[in-house]
Amino acid sequence: MKTVIITGATSGIGFAVCKEMLGLDYNVIGVGHSKEKIEAAKMQLQNEFLKKVTFFQADLMQQSEVKRLAEELSQHLDEHCEGKLYALINNAGCVRSWYSTTEDGYEQQFALNHLAPFLLTHYMLPYLQKDNGRVLITSSNSHKMMRMHWKDIMYKKGYNPLMVYKQTKLCNMLFAYAINDRFSQSGVMAYGIDPGLVNTDIGLKQTGGLVRLIWSLRKKKGVKPEIPAKTYAWVCSQENTPQGLYYYLCIKKKYSKQVNRENADKLFRISEQLCGIKFGGYI
Ligand SMILES: NC(=O)c1ccc[n+]([C@@H]2O[C@H](COP(=O)([O-])OP(=O)(O)OC[C@H]3O[C@@H](n4cnc5c(N)ncnc54)[C@H](OP(=O)(O)O)[C@@H]3O)[C@@H](O)[C@H]2O)c1
Repeated sequence: MKTVIITGATSGIGFAVCKEMLGLDYNVIGVGHSKEKIEAAKMQLQNEFLKKVTFFQADLMQQSEVKRLAEELSQHLDEHCEGKLYALINNAGCVRSWYSTTEDGYEQQFALNHLAPFLLTHYMLPYLQKDNGRVLITSSNSHKMMRMHWKDIMYKKGYNPLMVYKQTKLCNMLFAYAINDRFSQSGVMAYGIDPGLVNTDIGLKQTGGLVRLIWSLRKKKGVKPEIPAKTYAWVCSQENTPQGLYYYLCIKKKYSKQVNRENADKLFRISEQLCGIKFGGYI
């Protein structure tokens, strides 16, 4: 049975992806932030699919937590999954209204939406390589409206929450590009997934009045999370490894010209420094 790890698995798109993957008989490992939500999600999934679902808990904003999670996941994969991981779905994400930092001193949207996938993928790479694995990252069409803000990547000066969010979604695409450049030869492929506009509560969690108001109106136009969940399942279940970088509604889509080798390499180097690692032994 193929194993998939899904972050942000307790609500919204991630929870719907868990259901889709369980329906296709994958061995699903969810990662959640809150113990209560993990218990609720686990109960609901087990009742619906009548099979065991394993969850791990971590605050992915903090690098020490990503490291601890990776150690727990590694032990689990070694003991129960033949040391193999077929897919890592980096989906957890957040929106913030103002500049706030993590324990590591990094801006929170940048830390959770980009650095956490970067670091977790680094730790999971040996397991993915053993199963010709796929890395899926929840990006967004909004990546097309951005350029990298290299001179102040975490927007310490002149914080604009929307720009910061969009930049993290561009980072997701650049990271997927960088993985393919470095690891596709070893059988690991990465994809940016555009879920479209989805009716979730992302803009209502730890945000201020204006963001909450805008999102509560905007989300009503969004589709149910079950719609984008099918794209994740499609990318994972294609027998012939999909060769595109960016998918929306199970179809390969054009991505921004900003998603190029120069930007991908630059972000990769900066991310290695910010995480204090040498990713997979490569520059
Ligand atoms: N909704 C859209 O229209 C849309 C469009 C494009 C892209 N996206 C992307 O889709 C992804 C999922 O978002 P969503 O819309 O499904 O919203 P969501 O329901 O709020 O999902 C976000 C997930 O991330 C988890 N999370 C938040 N902070 C965390 C932390 N510090 N550590 C670990 N996990 C944490 C949340 O946990 P809890 O369940 O405990 O809150 C939740 O499960 C995000 O990457 C988002 O950027 C969404």
